[in-house]
Amino acid sequence: MHVVIVGSGIAGLTAAIRASARHDVTLVTKGALADAATSHAQGGIAVALGADDTAALHQADTHVAAAGSADARAVEVLCTDGPARVRDLLALGVPFDRTADPATLDRYGDDLARGREAAHGRWRVVHAAGDATGAAIEQTLIAALHRQHVTILERTCLTDLVLRDGAVVGIDVLDLLGEPRRIDADAVVLASGGAGHLYRETTNPLVATGDGAAAAWRAGAVLADLEFMQFHPTRLAVPGGGLVSEAVRGEGAVLRDARGRRFMTAVHPDAELAPRDVVARGIAAAIRDSGEVVLDATALDPGFLVARFPGLTRATRAAGFDWSRDGVPVAPAAHYFMGGIATDAEGRTSIPGLAAIGEAACTGVHGANRLASNSLLEGLVFAVRAADALGAPRPGLLRLRGTATLPVTTVPGVVGPTTASRPTIGTDRRTGGPARLDGSADVRQTVQRVMTERVGLLRDAGGLATARRELDALAVDAPATVRAHEDRALLDLARLVARAAEARTESRGAHARTDHPDTDPDAPASLAWVAAPATAPVPVPEEALA
Ligand code: SIN
Repeated sequence: MHVVIVGSGIAGLTAAIRASARHDVTLVTKGALADAATSHAQGGIAVALGADDTAALHQADTHVAAAGSADARAVEVLCTDGPARVRDLLALGVPFDRTADPATLDRYGDDLARGREAAHGRWRVVHAAGDATGAAIEQTLIAALHRQHVTILERTCLTDLVLRDGAVVGIDVLDLLGEPRRIDADAVVLASGGAGHLYRETTNPLVATGDGAAAAWRAGAVLADLEFMQFHPTRLAVPGGGLVSEAVRGEGAVLRDARGRRFMTAVHPDAELAPRDVVARGIAAAIRDSGEVVLDATALDPGFLVARFPGLTRATRAAGFDWSRDGVPVAPAAHYFMGGIATDAEGRTSIPGLAAIGEAACTGVHGANRLASNSLLEGLVFAVRAADALGAPRPGLLRLRGTATLPVTTVPGVVGPTTASRPTIGTDRRTGGPARLDGSADVRQTVQRVMTERVGLLRDAGGLATARRELDALAVDAPATVRAHEDRALLDLARLVARAAEARTESRGAHARTDHPDTDPDAPASLAWVAAPATAPVPVPEEALA
């Protein structure tokens, strides 16, 4: 069968390599192959490989970080399949860092170096080139991909899914030359990543505009957990600043407010290594109170800092800091979308012919807050399972995230495709006619402003209602460029995230409501959404409601 895979991060590359053994595979990616969030991953891969660790301990940590909302089956799959998948990467040649420390060798039973990150009870994060784990994995997988018979279409942007008789039978794209084109497929796998650019500040690369999740939504797929957007606590707070890995705190760096106070000790018993949502909100509060927060790594040996974090040493130096002597300013930024296209543990979605994996998918493995360094593992584990399930008969009963606990919420046109007309501005100098804002900066800037101010780290009913109104006033007319298609995707998802955040009237993990500060034990673990039939003629199959 012909399988089209969209996206070239760890999930897309892994699925393409695996599927190419049995199928004819085309891999489509919006930028160059390496332009994926995976290339930016620093911390590493969390995996229970050491003699002192077990899949059960990894599962327990994942559930605690997830604020009790993770799907037990998905977490079990992640943590038990994980070691074999990381061994696959070792066999492919990923240069994971090694150690010769006798104490470490004794404890783990192997010579892989491990880091520790927030909410992990063990040192289990394997890494490569210090803080360039993602780039090392991406390069190894790209080299492996080139050894397979896979058609690779770079600079090709997914615009929509093609449906026939309720099944996905292809994708529409803008090709390398910006021309619309249709690619037929027997199955489509969306590995198109997250949507960090819903927000003004993000650790994500420019490609992360939620194209796959939005296209799936428009096609009538069930989406879930959309209110859960993870903010990484520490982005380097300078213009254009990137991620500062949690692994730095894992090695002993601490957070200080503008008065030099180590404020996280008063927030959580695990202080800087509390779950990520707790640390992100702690930092935001300290910035509000004192004006600035710095990451203080000065207690670490300067030689160790350079050797363990060479990329971050360069990045902080380029920003004008010597982090062996001074704290570096940090602030939370949008990092990872826990929500996405609802899938089972084989990547199947509510639409036959459509699978989703990696950050585009929502297996429920992260619940309300992803455990640090579980994302690369998720990409690996579920990509292999989805690739292996391609062509297999669909089970009569799909257990999709959210649908087991709450009926799918049908959302009418208000959050359907964003094709409503809107005012024109000025005069087009070429045609002399009215100029149109085709995916113009103002839509993206408005989406990012609204999401940052009203649907960010802290939310309340008034702000969310205003966000809904402001987002509903926007539209992207007949998108014809990659930029315009991205803006349409961002707007579709922004409306959904705001809507989901309004619907969850409690605080849980990454979703913090100042007007509902407590967790409601009776609230559903997951909320699922589907477009109204008027905007998507495909009904949700009965089995999706299992
Ligand atoms: C980090 O290195 O802090 C990011 C790792 C992750 O997002 O899991």
